[in-house]
Amino acid sequence: MKVALGSDHAGYLLKESIIGYLHTSKRSCEDFGVFNEDSADYPDIAALVVGAVLSGEYECGILICGTGIGMSIAANKHKKIRAALCGEAYSAHCARKHNDANILTMGSRVIGPGLAAEIVEAFLTTSFEGGRHKRRLDKIIEVENK
Ligand code: RB5
Repeated sequence: MKVALGSDHAGYLLKESIIGYLHTSKRSCEDFGVFNEDSADYPDIAALVVGAVLSGEYECGILICGTGIGMSIAANKHKKIRAALCGEAYSAHCARKHNDANILTMGSRVIGPGLAAEIVEAFLTTSFEGGRHKRRLDKIIEVENK
């Protein structure tokens, strides 16, 4: 499993802590920036992580901004992206199981590093269930392709 990560300036420190968690839990990841707390525009970083996920080289992406909302909106404008903003582990679990989310977004001004690690763990360890959920996703894809 390879994870693509990105954040804006507001999410930088939480991203660093998540990278630490991924290393400790022996997961491979790549950091697509930002690399400091200088002001940055979240849609630019979202586009980099989206590109990485769509390339097929990364199984999923994690995007962090102040609230997680901007990253979620920006990522979801891209075709084939299902980005889920999560503030607790149950939503992250369902985002994978029911929605086959391929990007997790979180808000660094909303949650702390411990909770973020729990959310990441739930996201990375849950598989898509398919079945009726696949039928619903197919309907979303129809809208996307209109
Ligand atoms: C940056 O101040 C902030 O607007 C951004 O990180 C994010 O929360 C936007 O949704």
